[in-house]
Amino acid sequence: MTACGLDFGTSNSAIGILRGGAPVLAPVDGEETLIPSAVFFDYETKGRVLFGASAIATYVGQHDGRLMRALKSILGSPLIDEKTALGAKMVALTDVVEIFVRHLKSQAEAFGQQQLTAVVHGRPVRFVDDDDAADAKAQRVLAGIANRVGFSDVSFVYEPIAAAYHYEETAQGEETVLIADIGGGTSDFTVIRIGPERRTRPDRTDDILANDGTRVGGTDFDSLLSLDAVMPMLGLGSYLVEKNLPMPNGLYFELATWSTINFTYTYQNERMLIELVAGAREPEKVARLLKVIRERLGHRIAFTVEDGKIALSEADAAALPLDFIERDLLAPASRGGFDRAIAAKTDRLNRTAAACIRDAGLKPDDIHTIFFTGGSSRVPAVRTAIAKAAPSARIAAGSDFLSVGLGLTREAQRRYG
Ligand SMILES: Nc1ncnc2c1ncn2[C@@H]1O[C@H](COP(=O)(O)OP(=O)(O)OP(=O)(O)O)[C@@H](O)[C@H]1O
Ligand SMILES: [Mg+2]
Repeated sequence: MTACGLDFGTSNSAIGILRGGAPVLAPVDGEETLIPSAVFFDYETKGRVLFGASAIATYVGQHDGRLMRALKSILGSPLIDEKTALGAKMVALTDVVEIFVRHLKSQAEAFGQQQLTAVVHGRPVRFVDDDDAADAKAQRVLAGIANRVGFSDVSFVYEPIAAAYHYEETAQGEETVLIADIGGGTSDFTVIRIGPERRTRPDRTDDILANDGTRVGGTDFDSLLSLDAVMPMLGLGSYLVEKNLPMPNGLYFELATWSTINFTYTYQNERMLIELVAGAREPEKVARLLKVIRERLGHRIAFTVEDGKIALSEADAAALPLDFIERDLLAPASRGGFDRAIAAKTDRLNRTAAACIRDAGLKPDDIHTIFFTGGSSRVPAVRTAIAKAAPSARIAAGSDFLSVGLGLTREAQRRYG
């Protein structure tokens, strides 16, 4: 068996192999060991499929084609059985996941110069909150994909446990840690006892005290910021002349959500919007929405919003440039406004972290350290909310985008090395 560790993430992915017996991440996007989980089907060059940074760059360069991001979100949603139009063909969304996973495997095989047959696959603690059957189905679908791309041996490890194994490599002494992996699609928590002596134990079951997770992540923050700061400029919340009705809002939600952006580009929506522009109190705003649908600018908005969100981790205010919709159009955003827009989500993170500590049979003060990892752990309001669940803990952070991939590869070494 030649094994790898695979972190298929909502926003970013990584894959690691054993080289000379040691775990290393494979270059998967040029020289990079981290690849945006993005696939672009280029309609201008028939049959051309691009991955990662070049998928995004080609899309933003205004090639005609279809960009897919946040594919993992689909696994935990009713869209798991849906198809999407790729040119003239209808393709299952799970087939697009397969195309991406196949790409990762082939990159890792080229790097290691051997075929990979076993995978230690990451998974969130919960793909779906409060629905065990749907949650099990998501893992089944991923396992089926892994089989189809050529892994005969597939096992799953919770992503925060993998992050814990990575953190543990640098831990000096024995401690009880709350791992908080806040990613693009999910937030995952593990309470675990770690330490230099425990690290080499073949079975860690006794050290893992509890796992908890919820379907909250950076892509939700993007949606909420978009609905708060950008969509109102496209007419969300504005009124129609007749009967004082508000603009229907379903389309705005789809457009503000990474995994459903492509669904908004329909002829019916264009027809509907032409009528709504004619009946709107603020037609100039609704006309912007019509332009976005016609010219398929949804992902451009989503990237702009994501950049603005990331800027707000450091700054109190940010202006989101929307000049691809209209000259000099800017959407102002502030840290305070963003924190309010995501308050229900950060509250949920606080409750999930607290529940994880309780499930471990511990009190908040029993947690020595909170280890933050995952890109969305950089949001200040996220850290504050989670830190409240263990107020006396020391805060540690690191390898935000790679800890899970490295930990999974370490586990592959333990199992197959
Ligand atoms: N400085 C930052 N401030 C706020 N958010 C950030 C920052 N940097 C990255 N992010 C967000 O982090 C998310 C990606 O994090 P990460 O790569 O850990 O997720 P993932 O592993 O792909 O997702 P998941 O584990 O949920 O499947 C994105 O939503 C991105 O916008
Ligand atoms: Mg992750």
